[in-house]
Amino acid sequence: MNSLDSECRLLECLHEPDRKQRDQKKQFTGQLGKVLTSRLQRLVISRMPSEITTERLARHPEALPVLATWFESEWPDWYGPGGPGNAEEDLLAYANEGDLPMGIAAFQNGLLCGVAALKAVSIPSHLHLSPWAAAGFVIPSLRGQGIGAALLTALESEARALGYSHLYCGTATAASLLLRLRWHLIEFVEREGQKIGLYGKALCDLP
Ligand SMILES: CC(C)(COP(=O)(O)OP(=O)(O)OC[C@H]1O[C@@H](n2cnc3c(N)ncnc32)[C@H](O)[C@@H]1OP(=O)(O)O)[C@@H](O)C(=O)NCCC(=O)NCCS
Repeated sequence: MNSLDSECRLLECLHEPDRKQRDQKKQFTGQLGKVLTSRLQRLVISRMPSEITTERLARHPEALPVLATWFESEWPDWYGPGGPGNAEEDLLAYANEGDLPMGIAAFQNGLLCGVAALKAVSIPSHLHLSPWAAAGFVIPSLRGQGIGAALLTALESEARALGYSHLYCGTATAASLLLRLRWHLIEFVEREGQKIGLYGKALCDLP
């Protein structure tokens, strides 16, 4: 090694701490950049207008298998293993248009997020009332954002278009949603140990 090489090595050693600091700084700013980018992305997504649309289930046969799994996990006693219901069969029946039963699917920014159905029969003790808004389901992470209301409003329009003057719903979970949409309580009934509110709406009313 000549003296020039030695001098260069010496200078490199003297600058070593600077380089380490620079590398650490770069690493830190890189990580900070990633954190800020992901926060910014989350902020942009949360501020993005969320477009809720509803369409007849009959137009979306591809949605049936995933809806069946959602039904099975939401209502395991009915649709789960050993239960009396068959989610696939029920959903296939709702994938119908022009008469009852018929289903409506909900989408958030084009992604399937819920479903509801219009049925001729729902509560066995009240066969004189028809049709019924039933099988309302919205994926848990998107509940409370108005998707259930959009589904119910779509069912009301469908019932009106089919010539019905009234629509009914029996529920233990969505009373405030129904009341907000100007449904009225008819009575409470006991079903399988649960208190169910029966609600009705005259379809000549504005939604
Ligand atoms: C009921 C359901 C379809 C409503 O959908 P949604 O998109 O949350 O409805 P909206 O945002 O338009 O309205 C919210 C209303 O839904 C009802 N609701 C029931 N469970 C709810 C939950 N876990 N989170 C939020 N709202 C719920 C309440 O009435 C709520 O009214 P509030 O905001 O005055 O408290 C949805 O919560 C769901 O899938 N629940 C589980 C299945 C079920 O109970 N279906 C009803 C069978 S009749």
